[in-house]
Amino acid sequence: MQPSSVRTSSIPNVLSIAGVDPSGGAGVLADLKTFSALGAYGCGVIAALTAQNTQGVAGVHVPPTDFVRLQIDTLFADVHLHATKIGMLGSAEVTATVAERLAHWKAENVVLDPVMVAKSGDTLLAKSAIAMMREALFPQAFMITPNLPEAGVLLGQRGPDTVKEMYRAAERLRELLPVSSERWVLLKGGHLPGNDLIDLLFDGDRMIELPAPRIETKNTHGTGCTLSSAVAALLPQHAGGFRPVEAAVRQARLWLLGAIARSGELAVGHGHGPVHHFHALWPQ
Ligand SMILES: Nc1ncnc2c1ncn2[C@@H]1O[C@H](COP(=O)(O)OP(=O)(O)OP(=O)(O)O)[C@@H](O)[C@H]1O
Ligand SMILES: [Mg+2]
Repeated sequence: MQPSSVRTSSIPNVLSIAGVDPSGGAGVLADLKTFSALGAYGCGVIAALTAQNTQGVAGVHVPPTDFVRLQIDTLFADVHLHATKIGMLGSAEVTATVAERLAHWKAENVVLDPVMVAKSGDTLLAKSAIAMMREALFPQAFMITPNLPEAGVLLGQRGPDTVKEMYRAAERLRELLPVSSERWVLLKGGHLPGNDLIDLLFDGDRMIELPAPRIETKNTHGTGCTLSSAVAALLPQHAGGFRPVEAAVRQARLWLLGAIARSGELAVGHGHGPVHHFHALWPQ
């Protein structure tokens, strides 16, 4: 169990369990920027190291599983975490350990981004870990945020590439989560062809369409990491409000659109550049 809160604050403590992208556009570093930009105190557990820039991934180093466990246990024993975002986990062993420790600590508001492939096309998750993710980690997740290719892999089918297929995929993905409690699927349509894109938010009952114009840019490194951590940062802040999950996701997407739109103000690398996490705070 988490320690009973001796200290309380309206600023939520939010954790990212993910990999490190040294270029800071994705992974734990981007998650921490997101938490900070959106009014949450950020913590990080490092599940994998990558050698990576805006053009590609040169290598992956997965730390010993026991050390991932020690990071989680040491943190949860002291800090009340109001939400946890999970990103790149690298191996089946780390996936199993994270799942087991999150269950032990009864982690709240777990937002699981089932990262499998980087924007550059490089693989970030061992094949053997996918079954482990579905079996052990999905039961711990309050929300999963797959992109279209990941939805295909999780369902054992071709990734959806029309809105109609996305509806069906969102319904089938919801069936992979526990049926009897509140759980959400956020199916991201960034990979849809065409100028209009749409994300779907589904809880098994309401299917909410979240359309957006596609912003013409190559600075889309880490959009997925950034969105899932924005949702994790905002869920505790909307708790108790009207339709809190929908409100958190809408705010997260609106903020991300601003971050993509203003990404051109940054000059980072020669490939897919990062989004501007502090667009709402720094002068234009
Ligand atoms: N060019 C764009 N313009 C506007 N919104 C976008 C664009 N690209 C992606 N998005 C939005 O960004 C979010 C992330 O979606 P995407 O499908 O790119 O995730 P992803 O593939 O997991 O990203 P990543 O490669 O960073 O892991 C979604 O809300 C999607 O609608
Ligand atoms: Mg992604």
